[in-house]
Amino acid sequence: MQKIPHPTDENLLVGLHTADDAGVYKLTADIALIHTVDFFTPIVDDPYMYGQIAAANSLSDVYAMGGRPLTALNIVGFPQILFSNDILAEILKGGYDKVTEAGALIVGGHTITDDELKYGLAVTGIVHPDKVLTNAGARAGDVLILTKPIGTGILTTALKGEYQLGTLLDQVSQMMARLNNIAMEVMQKFTVNACTDISGFGLLGHSHEVAKSSRVGLQFQLSQIPHYREALPLIKKGFVPGGAGNNRIFLDDKVLLSENLSWEQSTLLFDPQTSGGLLIAVPADHAEQFLQALHSAGVPEAAIVGRVVAEHPGQIEVVD
Ligand code: CO
Ligand code: CO
Ligand code: CO
Repeated sequence: MQKIPHPTDENLLVGLHTADDAGVYKLTADIALIHTVDFFTPIVDDPYMYGQIAAANSLSDVYAMGGRPLTALNIVGFPQILFSNDILAEILKGGYDKVTEAGALIVGGHTITDDELKYGLAVTGIVHPDKVLTNAGARAGDVLILTKPIGTGILTTALKGEYQLGTLLDQVSQMMARLNNIAMEVMQKFTVNACTDISGFGLLGHSHEVAKSSRVGLQFQLSQIPHYREALPLIKKGFVPGGAGNNRIFLDDKVLLSENLSWEQSTLLFDPQTSGGLLIAVPADHAEQFLQALHSAGVPEAAIVGRVVAEHPGQIEVVD
């Protein structure tokens, strides 16, 4: 495959050269623009909920860079033969409500006829050029904090397989639709060294980007990682998204898994997430305070999941 050239510019603060969440372009001494885009096929049956989740997911990359979303554009692929316009209206209402909750504005969009339903947004945000959070700043000694449970890929795969999730469906939907804005606001009040959001490459895939860009090792404590209670039994039942296998293959020589980890447990760590939480590297001396601030601000699921180490730079270790 031909290598795609990476543009460089003195005002381009974050571009294609790092595997970060979004591009950042310095406009003035005080303002940098954040650009990001994301869209995907439905993961829940309720169109209004799907719209909210897709929007929360698209907005997340702005928060992961430490920024605030300003405007957004809808991106829609719509099979008119399969769905009524009422369905589309519900999806767009979900997106609208979530973007409004974020304090941003939907200012336009584009729809094409497609074989498969797709929805997402291109989002523009702002951040102070000196306060951009990337995945490249983690330092040995930092504590790692994760703000949402993992396992959404497993659960939504079970849903597609007609498995009845019961009350868990509502729980996981609400969690995916939850904005990462509160966690971002708490980050503004503390020294934070690195941040990324957990999405398609799973907890270990996005952690690898942090390890590689920051030239450090990460160490996770399996028992501390928040996850949905049904995730492991569902993996046993065979509900494993294809992306989890791809992530496992790609990360093969980049992860050091404890021999005591079961295949189901490691699969959960490779599970691709939709609208996942933020993974934040915080200096150890105020990690506990930071965690308490997250809990009292309305992110009770946030947990200390591991630490940054000087050993095995670029690699992730998981201990049980
Ligand atoms: Co991201
Ligand atoms: Co993204
Ligand atoms: Co980032």
